[in-house]
Amino acid sequence: MPLSACAGFTAGLSETTARLDAFLERSLSAPRCVHSRAVADLCGRLCLRFGCDPAVGYFTGLGHDAAREMPEEKLLAEARASGCPLDEYEEKNPVLLHAPVAAVILRRDFGVCDGEVLEAVRRHTLGCPDLRLLGKILFVADYCEPNRKFIDRRFRSVCFSLPLDGMLVYILDNEKARGHEIAPITRAMYDKLVKEKAGKSGEG
Ligand SMILES: [Fe+2]
Ligand SMILES: [Fe+2]
Repeated sequence: MPLSACAGFTAGLSETTARLDAFLERSLSAPRCVHSRAVADLCGRLCLRFGCDPAVGYFTGLGHDAAREMPEEKLLAEARASGCPLDEYEEKNPVLLHAPVAAVILRRDFGVCDGEVLEAVRRHTLGCPDLRLLGKILFVADYCEPNRKFIDRRFRSVCFSLPLDGMLVYILDNEKARGHEIAPITRAMYDKLVKEKAGKSGEG
């Protein structure tokens, strides 16, 4: 369960969530606020389903795009200043740096010290092969929240019928079918998930 090592933050979570919501109101456009709250709702519900704290899931979903409307030069400067290692693909596509910079904002300005929450936010755009439970849940919630127009009811109903890893594979297959470029780190996550699935279906 995320935040176990971060009891102070967990105790004040509803207050921190309200403060984060007010920050988003000031920093993001209205449609991005709507998206962020919808991701938060879905992330919380998926956390319930997969055995994580829904309040932590809500907070993580709410904060994932906190830096989404920051200019690219500022994203690059903030990401480099943070000292966090950057993916080559992200440096070539600076808009993707809103993920690591959002993690910086959550840690620096909202006192988030839980590694799984920070990792989920940091990896929400491209994923990574070692993504943990909350990161996988956020990845699915960001793609499937109800305001997304590039997927329909049928897609959601198939996706939500799958186990969590299957949801990720289903989403990435859809991205490939839409002709979108898949980043190397995302490809590595996909290959690992497919390999693990093949290993499981070959068991017993
Ligand atoms: Fe994002
Ligand atoms: Fe998003």
